[in-house]
Amino acid sequence: MLTAITRQVSPSINRCELTFHAKEPIDIPRAIAQHEAYEECLSQLGARVISLPAEADLPDAVFVEDAAIVVDEVAVSPIMGAASRRPETESLARTLSIYRLLKYMQAPATLDGGDVMRIGRRLFVGASKRTNADGISQLRAALAPFDYEVKSVNVKQCLHLKSGCSYVGRNSILVNRGMVDVTRLAGFELIDVPASEPGAANALLIEDVVIVPSAFPQTIALLDARGFKVKAIDVSEFQKAEGGVTCKSIIFNVDAAP
Ligand code: GLY
Repeated sequence: MLTAITRQVSPSINRCELTFHAKEPIDIPRAIAQHEAYEECLSQLGARVISLPAEADLPDAVFVEDAAIVVDEVAVSPIMGAASRRPETESLARTLSIYRLLKYMQAPATLDGGDVMRIGRRLFVGASKRTNADGISQLRAALAPFDYEVKSVNVKQCLHLKSGCSYVGRNSILVNRGMVDVTRLAGFELIDVPASEPGAANALLIEDVVIVPSAFPQTIALLDARGFKVKAIDVSEFQKAEGGVTCKSIIFNVDAAP
């Protein structure tokens, strides 16, 4: 069964990490309402949503994607790139251990799940400010026994690889080439985000539906015109925290619900 792990919004989200964005106040009741709508959207698309309680003292913990990497056979608990976020992995790993064998990274590796774009048995991993070469090689070693290929991709001017590109199905990747070196993405159809919407390359594919923030109407129109099924969703409060639509869930399949 398609399963989505999410986490409720921390009351401390206004103390979130910011790397490329200027600080803007986050409206917490609005963020909570947007997150509920996001969970409802995942549910309507067929996912069983496991919504974990908020972590009061971990401002970025709603962005669960960064705190684990889950493939069909195994989950990897990373050492996250931002020291303030490292405690996020602990309770998430406990939940994931119900569903997957767990492997743990060792220092000096750092890696954030937002840097990992999985397409089938290939994982493209952003060499970003948060993910270092040891993190990429430890992920490669953890997944090699299960026949996954891990390739590093250079990124610039963005937090994570998936800030700059996302797989949207039909062998296509939505991309901002100003952020992502596409050399390693040869063989895929690259769909460039409109210049007026540089932040629009973070999109979440569930089955055959591409979830895109409603803040990016031109990207929505572009995907729609190419025949993609698109679902627009408002994540404005999370964009202020340098998050997007992929960051707020970990999606994986569970053969039989325990
Ligand atoms: N605020 C998201 C992050 O910096 O990880």
